Amino acid sequence: MNSEKYFNKVANRWDEMRKSFFSDRVRKVAVARAGVRAGELAADIGAGTGFLTEELVQKGLNVIAVDQSEAMLEEMKNKFEKYDAVQYRKGDFSRLPLYNETVDYVFANMYLHHVDLPQVAIKEMARILKPGGKLVITDMDEHQFEFLRKEQHDRWLGFRRQDVESWIIEAGLKNVKVDGVEENCCAECVEDGEKASVSLFVAYGEKSLV
Ligand SMILES: C[S@@+](CC[C@H](N)C(=O)[O-])C[C@H]1O[C@@H](n2cnc3c(N)ncnc32)[C@H](O)[C@@H]1O
Repeated sequence: MNSEKYFNKVANRWDEMRKSFFSDRVRKVAVARAGVRAGELAADIGAGTGFLTEELVQKGLNVIAVDQSEAMLEEMKNKFEKYDAVQYRKGDFSRLPLYNETVDYVFANMYLHHVDLPQVAIKEMARILKPGGKLVITDMDEHQFEFLRKEQHDRWLGFRRQDVESWIIEAGLKNVKVDGVEENCCAECVEDGEKASVSLFVAYGEKSLV
């Protein structure tokens, strides 16, 4: 099963699964890091069922939610039926379905460790930011829990913060900083009960105004 099929399969259970992995604190930290303003436009990349989108909509933003999984997007459409502030687009990390310099913010929560080429994914996210726009990525620090590859289709066992920082700088963003979220992502191996607890980071960068 590939990653797209895996997320299609778990889409109708994702909200429950997500609650067991990490808490609302993650989206609060991500959104606070960007200093969002009502009326602006954000992209939620690897949006899933809209964990981040929900917070952004509540703060008065318009959101373009992008995901590879039709089923995730369908779940999200049902959840946000009454909001016309959300657009849904199926797309892949290597070619996001947005024009250059379209959005004020790009958010990506627990998405980067699923893509084949994280450096390319970050360049794509930087591409769609308007001048002055802000990128916020929340994800896992480097770890050794191999079962997450098999059971949850993780492509990378987290990241070293210095690598993420370099990739954001290489993508042309400035004021780059990677900090801890003070929250761990937790999961339990179905096969042998091994318990994973991995610290999370919040990575930030801005596109220059000129
Ligand atoms: C762990 S889930 C996180 C979902 C959501 N951001 C959240 O915090 O609940 C990862 C999401 O990234 C999406 N994804 C994985 N690889 C992708 C890719 N190559 N292109 C677009 N989306 C991808 C998956 O379909 C899934 O919805």
